[in-house]
Amino acid sequence: MRISWGVIHNALNILNISAFYQFIAIGAVIVVAVEIDVLRRAFERRRRAHQGELREAATPPSGGRIGDEALVTAGREIRAISPDEIRHISQAETILEVANVGKRFGALQVLDGVNLQVRAGEVLALLGDNGAGKSTLVKCISGVHEPDTGTIRIAGTELTIYHPAEARKLGVETVYQDLALFENLQAFANFFAGREVAGPGWLPEGLRLCRDKVMFEHSRAVIDGLEVRVPDLRRPVATMSGGQRQAVAVARAAAFSAPLVILDEPTAALGVRESHAVLGLISRLAKKRVGVILISHNMEHVMAVAHRAVVLRRGRVAGEVIPGKETEKEVVAFMVGA
Ligand SMILES: Nc1ncnc2c1ncn2[C@@H]1O[C@H](COP(=O)(O)OP(=O)(O)O)[C@@H](O)[C@H]1O
Ligand SMILES: [Mg+2]
Repeated sequence: MRISWGVIHNALNILNISAFYQFIAIGAVIVVAVEIDVLRRAFERRRRAHQGELREAATPPSGGRIGDEALVTAGREIRAISPDEIRHISQAETILEVANVGKRFGALQVLDGVNLQVRAGEVLALLGDNGAGKSTLVKCISGVHEPDTGTIRIAGTELTIYHPAEARKLGVETVYQDLALFENLQAFANFFAGREVAGPGWLPEGLRLCRDKVMFEHSRAVIDGLEVRVPDLRRPVATMSGGQRQAVAVARAAAFSAPLVILDEPTAALGVRESHAVLGLISRLAKKRVGVILISHNMEHVMAVAHRAVVLRRGRVAGEVIPGKETEKEVVAFMVGA
């Protein structure tokens, strides 16, 4: 900060202030100026660091665009996952460990002693008929429901407080089957709901202002990377189509570099092009060593991206397979209990 000494000196002279108080006044001005300068620089540093973080989260790992990966095309199987890759993943560290989880709603035992694990870089498909308990299991892992029995560990830490914010803190991002978006909020505000970017950083939290521009630009970058058409992110979610809402929900889950991303039927409302973009995104998350749980009824989608599939039946793990053309019958048999 530049200070004109002459101006201050003259001003103090005009006010007829004695030399002693002039020194004190100038000293005070210097202290205040230095303080402001320090704060300004600290703020600038924080802002840059934050923008850097956001850019990193939004940048595709390989520099390619989402959707580039070879995926399933009209009945033809293009399976990018090699046995080597599966062997490699089986040695990676465990991101999620579900042990003996049980959950009852009234008289209905929805989950009964469920055990499963997800490793870093693994896409685990969770399969099962309607009502098998898939969504309930997902809601336990993401802290929405508290299981009656068992434990859930995320990246080594046990989830003890069953609250979505707590699971998110441990590194779980979830796309719920019902999407769980705030209808009245703009799409980009939904992206950052509960973790708004606000500043300046040196103000107490309650006094900071939301940085809409930063949030908007970051959301735009992630959505564009997804190759999903959401023309106006400033529109409230209530005015969007099913596909656009799903795109917003999926992109939101992928945007924050969490170690575990859960997608409960993420392609149910999407067309072919958008579905492939989401599958591409899932593959890319896995390549970034994110653990992914994918719930889908579309076996082609499962075969295209999943390393392993666990089948739930009436709240229990009925079986586990490496998804592929030859195991499709096995999956169906596990589902119906044949
Ligand atoms: N909040 C709830 N209260 C009571 N019953 C529930 C609740 N959520 C799910 N259920 C029941 O639990 C069973 C499993 O549901 P869900 O986990 O949604 O299955 P899936 O996702 O595999 O189709 C269903 O019979 C469903 O009706
Ligand atoms: Mg469900």
